[in-house]
Amino acid sequence: MFDTVMKQQSATDALYAKVSRVIDPLSWREFAPVIDRINRLKRERNAVILAHNYMTPEIFHCVADFSGDSLQLAQQAAQTDAEVIVQAGVHFMAETSKILSPEKTVLIPDVKAGCSLASSITAADVRLLREKYPNVPIVTYVNTSAGVKAESDICCTSSNALAVVESLPSDTVLMIPDQYLARNTAQKTKKKILTWQGACEVHERFTPEEIRKFRAAWPDAVILAHPECPPEVVAEADFAGSTKAMSDYVTEKRPKRVVMITECSMSDNVSVNNPDVEFVRPCNLCPHMKRITLDKILHCLETMTHEVTVDPAIAARARRAVENMLAVKP
Ligand code: 13P
Ligand code: SF4
Repeated sequence: MFDTVMKQQSATDALYAKVSRVIDPLSWREFAPVIDRINRLKRERNAVILAHNYMTPEIFHCVADFSGDSLQLAQQAAQTDAEVIVQAGVHFMAETSKILSPEKTVLIPDVKAGCSLASSITAADVRLLREKYPNVPIVTYVNTSAGVKAESDICCTSSNALAVVESLPSDTVLMIPDQYLARNTAQKTKKKILTWQGACEVHERFTPEEIRKFRAAWPDAVILAHPECPPEVVAEADFAGSTKAMSDYVTEKRPKRVVMITECSMSDNVSVNNPDVEFVRPCNLCPHMKRITLDKILHCLETMTHEVTVDPAIAARARRAVENMLAVKP
């Protein structure tokens, strides 16, 4: 018994050494036993945890087996040998994992973890768009339901949006449902991009005035923005890219100071591996991502709930759109 407690403590102490700059000691006292329990249960259940870059650091750095942006998580879901996938992210991400791994059990710690983009469009809307623009290929952001993906020709993420659009043999493309990702992509291609009126409730709140204020306050800081931000915001930034692209930018270029125009946990997570970079931390919280907590992940593994299922006929059509995306070379 004493031995077990000591082993647990040394495993969690090693983790705390990594995250101590972003998690205070009092919070850690609560997190440590839950982290230990989750990491044991994962082995017992043959489960892996896929964590999006917006998960809080105790999830991202202490229990995740794979982490990354939407594209990386989709690729990991397709490759893992584990029997169970726990999606530490929002519902559309869990659906994408299920679509790519129909034989696996996919669990989400909170079924209410939605997304304003996913709820901005339905499969019926896409069918109407198809009627209106019969010869225009439909590129659908992965931040959508399986039903919407099933009506689409190909998916994209913020990492590969331009490559996906360029891969299509058509001068006009419908890019749904994020109007800002579509407009930001349109600036980099000669193709005509039609879109939908969806938006990310987190990124649409940033304004160009805000970015100009950060620039004035920290003139030596590099400003990175997610392409779900309005184009006027992206125009004020030094670089725009997916959560992975922003993280890679910091790791590779090691700016002295950085401002990340995105969700709040991103700076915490990236700062853990980049202690020499100073992070100015303006951010907006995603209320959906923040539904996922350590306690809910533990509950999910203990009870093997909440299982995410997708109608097999819809999943087969959605899989085609996701696999078409995965086949596009960056
Ligand atoms: P990424 O694919 O860049 O991680 O974006 C997903 C997302 O939901 C951002 O709001
Ligand atoms: Fe959806 Fe925006 Fe939250 Fe990402 S940050 S899950 S796009 S609401």
